[in-house]
Amino acid sequence: MTAEQKVAIITGASQGIGAALVSAYRDRNYRVVATARTVEPSDDPDVISVAGDIADPKTADRVISEALAKFGRVDTLVNNAGIFIAKPFTDYTKEDYAAVVAVNVGGFFHITQLAIGEMAKRGRGHVVQITTSLVDHPNSNVPSVLASLTKGGLSAATKSLAIEYAQKGVRVNAVSPGIIKTPMHGPETYEFLEKLHPVGRMGSIGDIVDAVLYLETAEFVTGEILHVDGGQAAGH
Ligand SMILES: NC(=O)c1ccc[n+]([C@@H]2O[C@H](COP(=O)([O-])OP(=O)(O)OC[C@H]3O[C@@H](n4cnc5c(N)ncnc54)[C@H](OP(=O)(O)O)[C@@H]3O)[C@@H](O)[C@H]2O)c1
Repeated sequence: MTAEQKVAIITGASQGIGAALVSAYRDRNYRVVATARTVEPSDDPDVISVAGDIADPKTADRVISEALAKFGRVDTLVNNAGIFIAKPFTDYTKEDYAAVVAVNVGGFFHITQLAIGEMAKRGRGHVVQITTSLVDHPNSNVPSVLASLTKGGLSAATKSLAIEYAQKGVRVNAVSPGIIKTPMHGPETYEFLEKLHPVGRMGSIGDIVDAVLYLETAEFVTGEILHVDGGQAAGH
Protein backbone atom coordinates (compact mmCIF):
# COMPACT_ATOMS: atom_id res chain seq x y z
CA MET A 1 0.00 0.00 0.00
CA THR A 2 1.58 3.28 -1.09
CA ALA A 3 0.35 6.87 -1.18
CA GLU A 4 0.84 6.85 -4.97
CA GLN A 5 -1.55 3.97 -5.56
CA LYS A 6 -4.58 5.21 -7.49
CA VAL A 7 -8.13 4.45 -6.40
CA ALA A 8 -10.96 3.37 -8.71
CA ILE A 9 -14.63 3.12 -7.77
CA ILE A 10 -16.60 0.55 -9.78
CA THR A 11 -20.40 0.44 -9.56
CA GLY A 12 -22.35 -2.68 -10.46
CA ALA A 13 -19.35 -4.64 -9.27
CA SER A 14 -21.05 -7.85 -8.11
CA GLN A 15 -21.08 -9.62 -11.49
CA GLY A 16 -20.66 -9.23 -15.24
CA ILE A 17 -18.65 -6.31 -16.60
CA GLY A 18 -18.31 -4.62 -13.19
CA ALA A 19 -16.79 -7.66 -11.47
CA ALA A 20 -14.28 -8.00 -14.32
CA LEU A 21 -13.40 -4.31 -14.03
CA VAL A 22 -12.57 -4.79 -10.34
CA SER A 23 -10.01 -7.48 -11.28
CA ALA A 24 -8.66 -5.45 -14.20
CA TYR A 25 -8.05 -2.34 -12.09
CA ARG A 26 -6.46 -4.46 -9.33
CA ASP A 27 -4.17 -6.00 -12.00
CA ARG A 28 -3.05 -2.43 -12.75
CA ASN A 29 -2.33 -1.91 -9.04
CA TYR A 30 -5.27 0.39 -8.36
CA ARG A 31 -7.04 0.10 -5.06
CA VAL A 32 -10.72 -0.48 -5.75
CA VAL A 33 -14.00 0.37 -4.07
CA ALA A 34 -16.55 -2.12 -5.40
CA THR A 35 -20.24 -1.41 -4.95
CA ALA A 36 -23.52 -3.17 -5.79
CA ARG A 37 -26.48 -4.42 -3.75
CA THR A 38 -25.08 -7.97 -3.48
CA VAL A 39 -21.34 -7.32 -3.69
CA GLU A 40 -19.37 -9.75 -1.48
CA PRO A 41 -16.73 -8.66 1.02
CA SER A 42 -13.21 -9.13 -0.39
CA ASP A 43 -10.16 -10.82 1.16
CA ASP A 44 -7.96 -8.37 -0.74
CA PRO A 45 -6.92 -5.49 1.57
CA ASP A 46 -6.84 -3.20 -1.49
CA VAL A 47 -10.53 -3.80 -2.26
CA ILE A 48 -13.38 -2.31 -0.22
CA SER A 49 -16.85 -3.69 -0.88
CA VAL A 50 -19.78 -1.38 -0.17
CA ALA A 51 -23.18 -3.08 -0.44
CA GLY A 52 -26.03 -0.78 -1.36
CA ASP A 53 -28.59 0.36 -3.90
CA ILE A 54 -26.87 2.83 -6.22
CA ALA A 55 -30.18 4.63 -6.75
CA ASP A 56 -30.04 5.72 -3.09
CA PRO A 57 -27.91 8.83 -2.56
CA LYS A 58 -26.85 7.38 0.82
CA THR A 59 -25.02 4.58 -1.02
CA ALA A 60 -23.03 7.18 -2.94
CA ASP A 61 -22.21 8.95 0.34
CA ARG A 62 -20.98 5.70 1.89
CA VAL A 63 -18.88 4.73 -1.14
CA ILE A 64 -17.08 8.06 -1.30
CA SER A 65 -16.64 8.27 2.50
CA GLU A 66 -15.14 4.77 2.62
CA ALA A 67 -12.84 5.51 -0.32
CA LEU A 68 -11.53 8.64 1.36
CA ALA A 69 -11.35 7.17 4.87
CA LYS A 70 -9.50 3.99 3.86
CA PHE A 71 -7.64 4.93 0.67
CA GLY A 72 -7.48 8.74 0.92
CA ARG A 73 -8.32 9.63 -2.69
CA VAL A 74 -10.58 9.02 -5.69
CA ASP A 75 -8.92 8.82 -9.12
CA THR A 76 -11.46 6.99 -11.26
CA LEU A 77 -15.17 6.28 -11.23
CA VAL A 78 -16.70 3.72 -13.56
CA ASN A 79 -20.48 4.12 -13.69
CA ASN A 80 -21.26 0.57 -14.70
CA ALA A 81 -24.36 -0.29 -12.64
CA GLY A 82 -27.38 -0.43 -14.88
CA ILE A 83 -30.60 -2.24 -15.62
CA PHE A 84 -32.18 -3.01 -18.97
CA ILE A 85 -35.89 -3.58 -19.55
CA ALA A 86 -36.85 -4.09 -23.20
CA LYS A 87 -40.57 -3.72 -23.94
CA PRO A 88 -42.85 -2.05 -26.45
CA PHE A 89 -43.29 1.58 -25.34
CA THR A 90 -46.89 1.31 -24.17
CA ASP A 91 -46.19 -1.86 -22.14
CA TYR A 92 -43.79 -0.14 -19.76
CA THR A 93 -45.22 0.19 -16.26
CA LYS A 94 -44.72 3.09 -13.87
CA GLU A 95 -42.55 0.73 -11.83
CA ASP A 96 -40.35 -0.03 -14.87
CA TYR A 97 -39.93 3.69 -15.49
CA ALA A 98 -39.13 4.47 -11.86
CA ALA A 99 -36.62 1.62 -11.56
CA VAL A 100 -34.71 2.32 -14.76
CA VAL A 101 -34.53 6.07 -14.15
CA ALA A 102 -33.52 5.56 -10.50
CA VAL A 103 -30.65 3.16 -11.26
CA ASN A 104 -29.40 4.35 -14.63
CA VAL A 105 -29.75 8.12 -14.07
CA GLY A 106 -29.91 8.54 -10.27
CA GLY A 107 -27.19 5.92 -9.86
CA PHE A 108 -24.97 7.98 -12.14
CA PHE A 109 -25.86 11.42 -10.78
CA HIS A 110 -25.40 11.05 -7.02
CA ILE A 111 -22.06 9.26 -7.02
CA THR A 112 -20.61 11.22 -9.94
CA GLN A 113 -21.35 14.51 -8.20
CA LEU A 114 -19.41 13.41 -5.12
CA ALA A 115 -16.57 11.69 -7.00
CA ILE A 116 -15.98 14.53 -9.44
CA GLY A 117 -15.95 17.01 -6.56
CA GLU A 118 -13.08 15.05 -5.00
CA MET A 119 -11.26 14.76 -8.34
CA ALA A 120 -11.57 18.48 -9.05
CA LYS A 121 -10.08 19.29 -5.62
CA ARG A 122 -6.96 17.33 -6.63
CA GLY A 123 -7.06 18.56 -10.26
CA ARG A 124 -7.06 15.04 -11.66
CA GLY A 125 -9.51 12.24 -12.36
CA HIS A 126 -11.44 10.13 -14.83
CA VAL A 127 -15.12 9.19 -15.05
CA VAL A 128 -16.42 6.52 -17.45
CA GLN A 129 -20.05 5.64 -18.16
CA ILE A 130 -21.22 2.38 -19.72
CA THR A 131 -24.02 3.29 -22.14
CA THR A 132 -25.46 1.13 -24.94
CA SER A 133 -25.27 1.03 -28.72
CA LEU A 134 -29.09 1.26 -28.79
CA VAL A 135 -28.71 4.99 -28.01
CA ASP A 136 -27.36 5.60 -31.52
CA HIS A 137 -29.26 2.96 -33.47
CA PRO A 138 -32.54 1.77 -31.98
CA ASN A 139 -33.62 -1.63 -33.26
CA SER A 140 -37.24 -2.45 -34.08
CA ASN A 141 -36.64 -6.01 -32.83
CA VAL A 142 -35.51 -4.76 -29.41
CA PRO A 143 -37.86 -1.93 -28.39
CA SER A 144 -36.33 -0.34 -25.29
CA VAL A 145 -37.05 3.37 -25.06
CA LEU A 146 -36.13 3.43 -21.36
CA ALA A 147 -32.59 2.37 -22.29
CA SER A 148 -32.45 5.16 -24.86
CA LEU A 149 -33.93 7.70 -22.46
CA THR A 150 -31.53 6.93 -19.62
CA LYS A 151 -28.33 5.82 -21.37
CA GLY A 152 -28.86 8.54 -23.99
CA GLY A 153 -28.90 10.96 -21.09
CA LEU A 154 -25.60 9.55 -19.84
CA SER A 155 -24.12 9.87 -23.30
CA ALA A 156 -25.08 13.56 -23.47
CA ALA A 157 -23.96 14.15 -19.87
CA THR A 158 -20.58 12.58 -20.69
CA LYS A 159 -19.89 15.27 -23.27
CA SER A 160 -21.30 18.03 -21.08
CA LEU A 161 -19.16 17.07 -18.07
CA ALA A 162 -16.09 16.54 -20.26
CA ILE A 163 -16.34 20.16 -21.36
CA GLU A 164 -17.20 21.53 -17.92
CA TYR A 165 -14.16 19.80 -16.40
CA ALA A 166 -11.72 19.88 -19.33
CA GLN A 167 -9.62 22.60 -17.72
CA LYS A 168 -9.88 21.10 -14.25
CA GLY A 169 -7.92 17.92 -14.97
CA VAL A 170 -10.93 15.60 -14.98
CA ARG A 171 -11.63 13.54 -18.11
CA VAL A 172 -15.11 12.12 -18.77
CA ASN A 173 -15.74 9.36 -21.31
CA ALA A 174 -18.17 6.55 -22.10
CA VAL A 175 -18.08 3.09 -23.59
CA SER A 176 -21.06 2.21 -25.77
CA PRO A 177 -21.31 -1.58 -25.95
CA GLY A 178 -23.15 -3.78 -28.39
CA ILE A 179 -24.63 -6.85 -26.76
CA ILE A 180 -22.22 -8.50 -24.39
CA LYS A 181 -22.21 -12.03 -22.97
CA THR A 182 -22.94 -11.33 -19.30
CA PRO A 183 -25.57 -12.64 -16.86
CA MET A 184 -27.87 -9.94 -18.33
CA HIS A 185 -28.68 -12.29 -21.25
CA GLY A 186 -29.52 -16.00 -21.06
CA PRO A 187 -27.64 -18.36 -23.43
CA GLU A 188 -30.94 -19.19 -25.16
CA THR A 189 -30.93 -15.64 -26.60
CA TYR A 190 -27.38 -15.75 -28.01
CA GLU A 191 -28.29 -17.01 -31.49
CA PHE A 192 -30.70 -14.09 -31.98
CA LEU A 193 -28.40 -11.54 -30.37
CA GLU A 194 -25.23 -12.38 -32.27
CA LYS A 195 -26.98 -11.65 -35.58
CA LEU A 196 -27.58 -8.05 -34.45
CA HIS A 197 -23.85 -7.32 -34.92
CA PRO A 198 -22.17 -6.82 -38.33
CA VAL A 199 -19.22 -8.96 -37.16
CA GLY A 200 -21.66 -11.82 -36.45
CA ARG A 201 -20.89 -12.31 -32.78
CA MET A 202 -21.77 -10.88 -29.40
CA GLY A 203 -19.14 -8.98 -27.45
CA SER A 204 -17.20 -10.45 -24.53
CA ILE A 205 -16.73 -8.88 -21.12
CA GLY A 206 -13.05 -8.52 -22.01
CA ASP A 207 -13.95 -6.34 -25.02
CA ILE A 208 -15.56 -3.79 -22.67
CA VAL A 209 -12.85 -4.02 -20.01
CA ASP A 210 -10.17 -3.36 -22.65
CA ALA A 211 -12.07 -0.25 -23.83
CA VAL A 212 -12.38 1.15 -20.31
CA LEU A 213 -8.67 0.55 -19.69
CA TYR A 214 -7.78 2.25 -22.97
CA LEU A 215 -9.76 5.34 -21.92
CA GLU A 216 -8.13 5.19 -18.49
CA THR A 217 -4.69 5.74 -19.99
CA ALA A 218 -5.68 7.96 -22.94
CA GLU A 219 -4.73 11.32 -21.45
CA PHE A 220 -5.72 13.31 -24.58
CA VAL A 221 -9.17 11.70 -24.83
CA THR A 222 -12.20 13.28 -23.16
CA GLY A 223 -15.86 13.52 -24.14
CA GLU A 224 -15.44 10.35 -26.21
CA ILE A 225 -18.24 7.82 -26.68
CA LEU A 226 -16.21 4.76 -27.59
CA HIS A 227 -18.31 2.28 -29.56
CA VAL A 228 -17.44 -1.33 -28.79
CA ASP A 229 -20.27 -2.91 -30.71
CA GLY A 230 -19.02 -5.21 -33.47
CA GLY A 231 -19.64 -2.52 -36.08
CA GLN A 232 -23.22 -1.60 -35.16
CA ALA A 233 -22.55 2.13 -35.01
CA ALA A 234 -21.18 2.00 -38.57
CA GLY A 235 -24.26 0.36 -40.06
CA HIS A 236 -26.03 -2.91 -40.75
N1 LIG B 1 -24.62 -6.96 -21.24
C1 LIG B 1 -24.93 -6.18 -22.29
O1 LIG B 1 -25.29 -6.65 -23.37
C2 LIG B 1 -24.86 -4.69 -22.18
C3 LIG B 1 -25.02 -3.93 -23.34
C4 LIG B 1 -24.96 -2.55 -23.27
C5 LIG B 1 -24.76 -1.95 -22.05
N2 LIG B 1 -24.60 -2.71 -20.92
C6 LIG B 1 -24.40 -1.99 -19.67
O2 LIG B 1 -23.24 -2.46 -19.02
C7 LIG B 1 -23.42 -2.34 -17.61
C8 LIG B 1 -23.09 -3.67 -16.96
O3 LIG B 1 -23.91 -4.65 -17.55
P1 LIG B 1 -23.77 -6.21 -17.29
O4 LIG B 1 -24.18 -6.88 -18.54
O5 LIG B 1 -22.46 -6.55 -16.65
O6 LIG B 1 -24.99 -6.37 -16.27
P2 LIG B 1 -25.33 -7.42 -15.16
O7 LIG B 1 -24.54 -8.68 -15.31
O8 LIG B 1 -26.82 -7.48 -15.12
O9 LIG B 1 -24.80 -6.64 -13.86
C9 LIG B 1 -25.40 -5.44 -13.49
C10 LIG B 1 -24.68 -4.93 -12.26
O10 LIG B 1 -25.38 -3.74 -11.84
C11 LIG B 1 -25.71 -3.89 -10.49
N3 LIG B 1 -26.97 -3.24 -10.16
C12 LIG B 1 -28.18 -3.40 -10.74
N4 LIG B 1 -29.12 -2.69 -10.08
C13 LIG B 1 -28.47 -2.07 -9.06
C14 LIG B 1 -28.88 -1.21 -8.02
N5 LIG B 1 -30.16 -0.82 -7.88
N6 LIG B 1 -27.96 -0.77 -7.14
C15 LIG B 1 -26.66 -1.16 -7.25
N7 LIG B 1 -26.21 -1.96 -8.22
C16 LIG B 1 -27.11 -2.42 -9.11
C17 LIG B 1 -25.81 -5.39 -10.25
O11 LIG B 1 -25.53 -5.70 -8.90
P3 LIG B 1 -26.59 -6.12 -7.77
O12 LIG B 1 -27.68 -6.89 -8.44
O13 LIG B 1 -25.75 -6.89 -6.81
O14 LIG B 1 -27.06 -4.82 -7.20
C18 LIG B 1 -24.69 -5.92 -11.13
O15 LIG B 1 -23.46 -5.88 -10.44
C19 LIG B 1 -24.86 -1.90 -17.40
O16 LIG B 1 -24.91 -0.51 -17.17
C20 LIG B 1 -25.54 -2.23 -18.70
O17 LIG B 1 -26.64 -1.39 -18.98
C21 LIG B 1 -24.64 -4.06 -20.96
